Amino acid sequence: MRESFGNRKVTSGERKLLISRVFASIAKRYDLMNDLMSFGIHRRWKQALVKSVILPAGAVVVDLAGGTGDVAAAIHKKTGNSVIVADASRQMIEVGRKRHKSALRWVVAEGENLPFAANSVELLTLSYGLRNMTDSEKTLEEIFRCLKPSGKFICLEFSTPAFWLKPFYDFYSRTIIPRLGAFVAREPEAYQYLIESIRKFPNQRQLCQQFMDAGFERVEYKNLSFGISALHFATKPAEHDA
Ligand SMILES: C[S@@+](CC[C@H](N)C(=O)[O-])C[C@H]1O[C@@H](n2cnc3c(N)ncnc32)[C@H](O)[C@@H]1O
Repeated sequence: MRESFGNRKVTSGERKLLISRVFASIAKRYDLMNDLMSFGIHRRWKQALVKSVILPAGAVVVDLAGGTGDVAAAIHKKTGNSVIVADASRQMIEVGRKRHKSALRWVVAEGENLPFAANSVELLTLSYGLRNMTDSEKTLEEIFRCLKPSGKFICLEFSTPAFWLKPFYDFYSRTIIPRLGAFVAREPEAYQYLIESIRKFPNQRQLCQQFMDAGFERVEYKNLSFGISALHFATKPAEHDA
């Protein structure tokens, strides 16, 4: 099957390998690059996600594609719950493990094949991860399977900005980000991939439709910074059988 990696057509096996190389190569500079590329605004976007989290004590929480664990650590700080960070990259997890010595648990796992029992998770968060999955449909199926009935899924992703912002945004992402990627992360290709993957990602409404197609209900979204990012919320139906 042909998949895309940025603008290149590759097989799904090649895509998986290329993406794992991207995150292995940028793991140590990943958080610094996020700060530089977004002028620190990614922290506010992640805070918006964390602010929306309401949990009963002891709830099982998974931060999928959790990378270096900053969203998981913030959820833990807000709610006191232990959070499981699941990510496909050992290198990203290693960086996170050293940084957060709090009540986070770490598991190397792919979104397309989650190591959690059906109906076992109260909340699953996924920030800037869906775009990188080799098979996003399978990942949504897996998220749906693992969530308890009435369990919540919160997805934070780059999205489609307001039309008036698009020319500035396009200029910035085409010219500045690849240069930052070259000079700071020393991985221009990785950041070229990032920009192209954002460009190809579904817009706010299309993503809502994908979540509904996967069986979720109460699907809604909230734009952040005029749609540069968006938070999507979805719930597994209460009456869903295992
Ligand atoms: C852009 S980073 C996001 C990290 C973190 N959630 C954040 O918001 O900063 C994407 C993460 O997705 C992970 N990833 C890529 N493909 C994956 C897959 N198939 N399953 C699970 N994680 C994956 C990468 O290893 C990387 O840590």
